[in-house]
Amino acid sequence: MNKSTLSLTLAGLALLAAPVHAADVAAGKALAEASCADCHGDDGAGDDDYPGIAGMAVEKFTRAMQEYQDGTRTKNPKMTKEAKKVSAAQIADLAAYYAKLK
Ligand code: HEC
Repeated sequence: MNKSTLSLTLAGLALLAAPVHAADVAAGKALAEASCADCHGDDGAGDDDYPGIAGMAVEKFTRAMQEYQDGTRTKNPKMTKEAKKVSAAQIADLAAYYAKLK
């Protein structure tokens, strides 16, 4: 193996090791403030009409969003509409942000 083959191999391994999307808490916060806070509150605490989503585990949060998107959860058309506006990467950002809140 010559030197350039070696460095290509290492670069390839580094790519494989990288997560598909590194959750970006700051991006999640910005999106949450713009799109979710109207209903769920500034800190995700919720109120009488909307559930609190602060402190939800990443996995639970992600599953909930996917279920709104794929129609498994149909309890609230408003939330379904909101969920359909965000990408999988944005859900990861939002999940990371809300999981940090208490
Ligand atoms: C128009 C108001 C509204 C907006 C805006 C909104 N939601 Fe919701 N959300 C709701 C309602 C109502 C529910 C409860 C629906 C149900 O019972 O399934 C809900 C439920 C949820 C749940 C599930 C909570 C649980 O305990 O299972 C999550 C997660 C969630 N919302 C995330 C978000 C995120 C992230 C955003 C911004 C991208 C957002 N919501 C924007 C109204 C809203």
